[in-house]
Amino acid sequence: MSFPSLLTLAQATSAAAIAAQPYVGRMDKNGADGACVDALRAVLGPATDFRGRVVIGEGEKDDAPALYNGETLGAGSGAVVDIAVDPLEGTTFCAKALPNSFSVIALAEPGAMFEPGPAFYMDKLVVGSEARGALDPEAPMADRLEALARAKGKAVGDLLIYLLERPRNQAMIDGILAAGARVSLNSGGDVLGATLALLEGQDVDALMGIGGTPEGVISAVAAKALGGDCFGRLAPQLEAEKRGVEEAGMSCQRWLGLEELVGGTQVQFCLTGLTDGFILQAPLRDSQAWVTDSLLIEGPSGQLHRLQTEIPIS
Ligand code: FBP
Repeated sequence: MSFPSLLTLAQATSAAAIAAQPYVGRMDKNGADGACVDALRAVLGPATDFRGRVVIGEGEKDDAPALYNGETLGAGSGAVVDIAVDPLEGTTFCAKALPNSFSVIALAEPGAMFEPGPAFYMDKLVVGSEARGALDPEAPMADRLEALARAKGKAVGDLLIYLLERPRNQAMIDGILAAGARVSLNSGGDVLGATLALLEGQDVDALMGIGGTPEGVISAVAAKALGGDCFGRLAPQLEAEKRGVEEAGMSCQRWLGLEELVGGTQVQFCLTGLTDGFILQAPLRDSQAWVTDSLLIEGPSGQLHRLQTEIPIS
């Protein structure tokens, strides 16, 4: 199997983060997304240390520029690995010069990733390694939170659950508060919420609620790399999406477990900061070079690297 070196991934997401800098704060989501897509493709397309098939290219939901599902990246040989990529996660954050946008890429073994097809939205539950195997996503909210609190050695009242603040998540938010736990309500950033839930030493105890399906699969790769848990259930919101999911015969009742979202054992996950955020910093520039800030995680070992990459300005 041909997984790339982690440095290749960091170079690709770093190139995307740098390419987006002229767009930060310019209210041009598609311009920023397009610059990230082009930069990422320019690094990964000719990379000779792997070959990958884009299973999740993002962008389709908002008609944003995307790496196409089925597109092959990399000029290496060996088995073709699965790629899920969001060249710019947090387009609105970038457009408004707000914290916590980044470029992200996730890799898994050939054929291992769930292919969402027409499904853009998914209900999710992501927890860290202490709670792996401890939660039933179908259990009532109070039972889920009790199981999470037990696994983490905390009181339910101390739990902090990250959700997107959307009308579609309001009933869940009410349920969490009624059970006595706390909510972190965010205008965007599902991959950030999942990463915070998975990393040690962060306040967030779980990601819950309905967000993007691509972000769900990317989060599942992070969960697999770090030994956490991730569940997803399709929750189409748009009319055309509902029709597409029904025509494809996909279930909106059944929760998919981690192994169904990402099978196999070997995974790679790479984030590079685009604007300053909770986990990563924006690229810094001097007259000679850009310096980017990346987080790289390999599974199944859970080996985590923090990498500063210097990219000369040509
Ligand atoms: P993009 O930056 O790729 O648009 O995604 C940002 C995001 O907040 C995701 O993290 C989340 O899963 C999705 O949008 C939610 O979609 P919506 O904004 O339509 O509720």
